[in-house]
This record gives sequence, C-alpha cells and structure tokens, in this order.
Amino acid sequence: MSRPSSGTAATIMIELDGVELTLPSAAGPVHILRGLDLVIGRGETVSVVGPSGSGKSSMMMIVAGLERASKGAVTVGGTRFNGLDEDTLARFRRDSVGIVFQDFHLVPTMTALENVAIPLEFAGRDDAFERAAECLEAVGLGHRLTHYPGQLSGGEQQRTALARAFAPGPDLLLADEPTGNLDGETGQQIIELLFQLQAEHGTTLVLITHDPQLAARCARSVKLLDGLIVDDVANGGTKYGDPAASAAGL
Ligand SMILES: Nc1ncnc2c1ncn2[C@@H]1O[C@H](COP(=O)(O)OP(=O)(O)O)[C@@H](O)[C@H]1O
Ligand SMILES: [Mg+2]
Repeated sequence: MSRPSSGTAATIMIELDGVELTLPSAAGPVHILRGLDLVIGRGETVSVVGPSGSGKSSMMMIVAGLERASKGAVTVGGTRFNGLDEDTLARFRRDSVGIVFQDFHLVPTMTALENVAIPLEFAGRDDAFERAAECLEAVGLGHRLTHYPGQLSGGEQQRTALARAFAPGPDLLLADEPTGNLDGETGQQIIELLFQLQAEHGTTLVLITHDPQLAARCARSVKLLDGLIVDDVANGGTKYGDPAASAAGL
C-alpha cells in the first residue's frame, strides 16, 4: 500500500470529494449518493446515522473500496481509489481496512480459527495461525477455535468477525450495524469490545448505527438523508466546519 507522503495525508484517514453513486435499476438509474464531501482524521471515531435507505451502507462500501463511486474522488489512508485496479484495491483493503457487518459474513465451512487466519495467510504472514489464535483469545474465544460458525452463538460469531477485522492491524475499521442481529446485552458486549480494540489500536472507526446511545459513544456523528450529508456534529454539539469548531481545533 502507498503511505501518506504529505503532512495532510498523514493526518487524514478518509476524504470524500463530491462522491456520487448511481446504480441502474429496472425503473432507471437510482441516485443513491448525491454528492458527499467528508473528511475524517486518523484516529477519529465517527458514527454514521440516518434512516433506512439513506445511503449509509453504500457510503461504507465506497470507503471500503467494495463499490466504485460513479463520480467524485475517494482517498483512504493517502491512497486515491480512483483509477486503481481491482487487485491493488483488494490488497489495500486487506492490509488497511477491517470491516464488520451486521450478519457477520463468516465463511461457514471454516472454523473460527481459519476464518481469522486464512486472510492473514493470503496477506503472506507466516504467523497467520498464531496471530489468529491470539486475536480470538483477545475477544474471549480461546476455547472456540475449532468451532464452525454454525456452532457459535450470534455474539460469538460477531466476536470472531471482530477478531478477523482487527487481526491485520488495520488503520481503519468500518462497522455496519454490528449489533443489529444481536440481543441487547450481547450487543452491548460487542460494542464494549469494539471500543476497547479501537482504543488499544488507535484505529479510525466509522460506525453505522441507528442506536442514538451507541452513536453518542463516537466523538463525532455524521447524518445522511436521501444520499446527502445533512448533519455533521461533534458529540457535545459543535458542528464540524463551523468557525467555532475551527477555532477549537476541530
Ligand atoms: N445495488 C443496488 N441497486 C439499486 N439500488 C440500490 C442498490 N443498493 C442499494 N440501493 C438503494 O440505495 C439506497 C440506499 O441504500 P443503503 O446504502 O443500503 O442505505 P442504508 O444503509 O442507509 O439503509 C436505498 O434506497 C436502496 O434501495
Ligand atoms: Mg444499511
């Protein structure tokens, strides 16, 4: 992956500039994202909120490099996505971006250990299995290494997904409604773990959620509505981009 070379790139994790996403549908093109401008600094914790269908997951897919913007510029960790070929993009994602989904996305035919280790092996790490075991122990699953996803509870599956996401030591963690499929208490445990790992690693966190309490755990909240950013506030209430916020060094 390319490393940020300028002072600005060294402090910026995500930069979206006029990002649009238009996809075809039977009824004609759908304008899903309609011009997003967003800068997220390294180490920030940002929640993304907004009603269902407002474009939160689509924005995440673009930041992850899993979906290409139809228009505008996407730069993540100093790497500009526009024009990158799929292999380079996939390598960047593998090394720098951890992703956690609502429905876990574990490979059902692999054990917990393999789910975490195989991506590390693909990344060329010869300590893949040791590292994977260590990460699973860190999320409290040291006793479940050889279990398949179907033999794990929802909370355990999401712990496995968290271990997988953090194992390569990503600069950026993207989480799309990570507690959406879990009961309240289990969800709470996952969130505690997520923030603990984030703090330990200093990872930039973008957390999609419709839970206001959870959103408030992040230092900043971005609100989407109908494919546009309609609010961007520091939790505490200061608007990003406001003169007052700039004066405060935000
Ligand atoms: N592949 C697709 N083709 C057409 N429309 C899509 C596609 N994926 C998502 N959409 C539409 O884009 C809008 C935003 O979806 P999404 O990003 O999933 O929103 P959210 O995560 O905020 O619920 C929705 O109206 C959805 O129906
Ligand atoms: Mg969504």
